[in-house]
Amino acid sequence: MDILIAYATTEGQTGKIARFCADRLAAQGHEPHLLHVEHGGEDMPDCAAAILAASVHIGKYQAALESFALRHAPRLNARPTLLLAVSLAAAGEDADEWQDLARIAEGFQARTGWRAGQVAQVAGAFRFSQYDFFRRLAMRWIAHQKGQQVDPQGEREYTDWAALGALVDEFAAQAA
Ligand SMILES: Cc1cc2nc3c(=O)[nH]c(=O)nc-3n(C[C@H](O)[C@H](O)[C@H](O)COP(=O)(O)O)c2cc1C
Repeated sequence: MDILIAYATTEGQTGKIARFCADRLAAQGHEPHLLHVEHGGEDMPDCAAAILAASVHIGKYQAALESFALRHAPRLNARPTLLLAVSLAAAGEDADEWQDLARIAEGFQARTGWRAGQVAQVAGAFRFSQYDFFRRLAMRWIAHQKGQQVDPQGEREYTDWAALGALVDEFAAQAA
């Protein structure tokens, strides 16, 4: 089965997640089409099913992925689809933050007109090497607030690869 994986990423973790999904699907004999959405004007390749992935920055997904979803909503709505929403809030258990994540996903779908068949909240990462000075300070403060031990020069990954693999397997099985 041809499966599109269209993703936007700011610091790279969603890109890593998208590549993981592509490798997983390819290993099962599917044909994944990895598409890095950078401006939203990209064409949507022919596919039987689609995974769209984006990450949360100050309460929103990347504008490019929103444009892409808006542009291709009718075709997306005609296929099995999965939205992977990557964030740090998804690494925790704060009920208010989880409500925010649900609101962000809901607002995105309402604005684009694409109704994802399934929405999955996926824990992302701190990637200090990718931040500028002010972001590094802000993210260190957030890590501190959450009681997380982080290397201020390095990375701290929260993505549960086993759970993500199982999710992708199930999506592909259902789509088929
Ligand atoms: C400037 C900035 C703002 C962020 N805002 C949020 C946020 O509002 N909620 C959240 O849960 N995570 C937030 N994050 C965490 C990112 O969603 C997380 O680091 C994710 O892994 C980034 O994915 P990417 O590397 O694909 O861009 C933010 C990160 C940065 C750097």
